[in-house]
Amino acid sequence: MQLSPVLATTGTYPFVRLEEAKRRLAAAGVELIDFGKGDPREETDPLIRRALVESIEPLSSYPLAEGLPELREAIAGWCARRFGVEVDSETEVIPTYGSKEAIFHLAQVVLDRGGGKPLVLSTEPGYPVYDRGALFAGAEVEQLPLLEENGFLPALDAIDEETWERTAIFWINYPNNPTGAVAPLEFFDRLATLAAEHDFLLAADEAYTELWFDEPPHSALEVSDRSRVAVFQTLSKRSSMTGYRSGFVAGSQELIAALRQYRPTVGTAPQEFVQRASVVAWNDEEHVERTREIYRRKREVLLPALASKGIRVAGSAATMYLWLEVPAGEDSEELATRLLEHGLIVSPGTFFGPSGDGYWRLALVPTEGECERAAEILERLL
Ligand SMILES: Cc1ncc(COP(=O)(O)O)c(C=O)c1O
Repeated sequence: MQLSPVLATTGTYPFVRLEEAKRRLAAAGVELIDFGKGDPREETDPLIRRALVESIEPLSSYPLAEGLPELREAIAGWCARRFGVEVDSETEVIPTYGSKEAIFHLAQVVLDRGGGKPLVLSTEPGYPVYDRGALFAGAEVEQLPLLEENGFLPALDAIDEETWERTAIFWINYPNNPTGAVAPLEFFDRLATLAAEHDFLLAADEAYTELWFDEPPHSALEVSDRSRVAVFQTLSKRSSMTGYRSGFVAGSQELIAALRQYRPTVGTAPQEFVQRASVVAWNDEEHVERTREIYRRKREVLLPALASKGIRVAGSAATMYLWLEVPAGEDSEELATRLLEHGLIVSPGTFFGPSGDGYWRLALVPTEGECERAAEILERLL
């Protein structure tokens, strides 16, 4: 049977490899503490769960791709409170089934293969879905390195005129997974200006804007010209709702209109009971403050143990991740393999791209008690 050649180039999703090792060690009786995947294991707030249950109707119908008006209004209200921006709930917002599917599908909606703009730019180390979605849509992909010396921002000055002209989508992700870096508003503004100048879409994946420790990070929605900017948000990390699948795209009216046209065919609108629970989630900040506090405490358990072993923390101003330098004499995969044999599952930086070499990532998803045990193990092993 013929299959898409893109399948072969994407290989196994790195976390699937981790799952395999986990199963082997669990079967051998090793106690595992899993700092691998960024899947929050905090409970969803009871207020949100109750809203979900109360929204289940006897009759079930297809949810509309445009989403419930009350959800779009709740999202617009949240954007106004959180970022001080006015977003029109009718023309500038569309709910999505989490953000991953919307990220994956974006190139299908934007790319005109014969139109002279075949290129999708992304950054690495990074979340793999931008590139995979682009490749399945027939795009060319170029990954720009995120280097610590540039604050883990792509070097925009190094991009030549021809590349800008060939670009259809530029993906950015701040606060960044895996480096935890945040971007200043000037960076978003500069990219939005470049997007208008060279006619590409600035796609900003903002899954982690709500998990911060000092200052609330900015959004690309705050730029002065939003005509070529689309922001991808989600309740997954903010409200520990990965299993609900609820997010949104906001920004460019032209893109939102295109998504309203495209998405009914894809059939990925969140169920109406999920949308009603999402209204409650976007309208409440107290549970988000509690969630931030939980991640802060876990960081405070692990950081002293890492510091005592001379492990340098790079980036990591926000998100649920710690991006750490690998100790001298070892590479990131060797370190991850060694820790795994002692029950600590961590991600080698190379999982996220070649510029992740020399780093490793801890996702702060285990419980505080598990973090305490992990701190002891790290003090022994590092
Ligand atoms: C950078 C980034 N973007 C987007 C997502 C997708 O999240 P969801 O589909 O749950 O909204 C993730 C999930 O881990 C992520 O790390």
